[in-house]
Amino acid sequence: MKILVVGSGGREHAIAWRLAQDAEGHEIFCAPGNAGTVGIATNVDIKADDIAGIVAWSNRERPDMVVVGPEAPLVAGLVDALEREGIVAFGPVAAGARMEGSKRFAKEVMDAAGVPTGAAEVYTDPVAAKAALAKFGLPVVIKADGLAAGKGVIVAETTADAEAAIDDMLVVSKFGAAGAEVLIEEFLNGEECSILAIVDGNDAILLPSSQDHKRVFDGDKGPNTGGMGAYSPAPVVTDDLIPIIKDRIIMPVVNELKKRGIVYRGILYAGLMVTPEGGKIARSGSRVNVVEFNARFGDPETEAVLPRLGGSFATALMHAAKGCLKPDDVVVKPGAAATVIIASGGYPGSYQKGKVISGLGDAGKDEIVFHCGTKFDHVEGGNTVVTAGGRVLSVTGCGDTLREAVDRAYAGVSGISFDGMFYRHDIAHRAFER
Ligand code: AMP
Ligand code: GLY
Repeated sequence: MKILVVGSGGREHAIAWRLAQDAEGHEIFCAPGNAGTVGIATNVDIKADDIAGIVAWSNRERPDMVVVGPEAPLVAGLVDALEREGIVAFGPVAAGARMEGSKRFAKEVMDAAGVPTGAAEVYTDPVAAKAALAKFGLPVVIKADGLAAGKGVIVAETTADAEAAIDDMLVVSKFGAAGAEVLIEEFLNGEECSILAIVDGNDAILLPSSQDHKRVFDGDKGPNTGGMGAYSPAPVVTDDLIPIIKDRIIMPVVNELKKRGIVYRGILYAGLMVTPEGGKIARSGSRVNVVEFNARFGDPETEAVLPRLGGSFATALMHAAKGCLKPDDVVVKPGAAATVIIASGGYPGSYQKGKVISGLGDAGKDEIVFHCGTKFDHVEGGNTVVTAGGRVLSVTGCGDTLREAVDRAYAGVSGISFDGMFYRHDIAHRAFER
């Protein structure tokens, strides 16, 4: 197949890499890709949010399928635009991507479908919003309705912090239009995990569970990031939870969207909170509650989940995009995988770019180095890979056990260096603490 992967991060490198593992042998393109996708794909110099550019390229090149990585082009209607041209695209149409693009919409769909989630109310008036806080107790969660680059969620421990978050969104418009409506949400207690489901509009297949590490420093300290590592499977997702997640969370959403005339095809990513035995149960009465939905593969979860898939990945994505997913389209390999993000000093605050990376290409066969924010430095004549983002590399280890996978990931990390690099040393700690 001729396949275009849209995006430039570790997730898109992992998607392209996994497609390249298929026995069929595909012709893969990335728009725009990064220095890591060069070895397995042809990079096309079009940005992921350049809808017109991607449609024009696709019209010219007629790929068999376009796989869309990031949320912004999905929310902006890239899949709708490609489908209008008769091009098969993996990812939801804009109306479906609102499950990520509007937290209010996602809540409405969940409530209509009876999906367990934190109780929430929506406000546009700051005075009314603050008056409502007392009903929720503390901690309380304040969320901007729209896409805010991962910064629109504040877990407030005090009323003063909650009021400040409401003012940031509704009074000083810190998040622009994305914060013009706020959700005040019940705090959910427990351990988070991610479930990525491949959805074909009618049915869904759950990929292996995973867990992200959002805080920047070891021990889950410091500010939130786009994710500092992940591993799969996540033991918090015990076997008994799988049918609950499919039948009470994923399928009711797919069916509710269909009722509203939205055929959801692509990845439906459920960020879930699992309450421990004996913990305070949410108002929904369920031990598993939805924290958020995303309309795409997670990053860095994808770098830990895709290496665990066997079979033909392209066929699974194609069948989902065409509405004919079959149960055996997804083959899960036994064992485990873990991925460690290598970041640039200062991330998630400001950081420098253009640092020369050494040690790439030394990884062993059970280690995979995905590039997140890299590029070639043409000043030096071409072949030097330099940093070009806050999250720079994602090193995945695979093994029979999670311990083996984590050790391999760190062995891969140890050979890589650049000025100011850092990473977390405790990926998968929750699994090991069990
Ligand atoms: P999001 O940007 O929606 O992924 O939210 C960021 C993080 O905020 C989540 O990963 C959770 O750790 C936390 N969070 C969001 N909603 C809740 C909630 N209702 N209860 C507890 N934590 C939450
Ligand atoms: N790993 C979190 C996300 O992809 O949104």
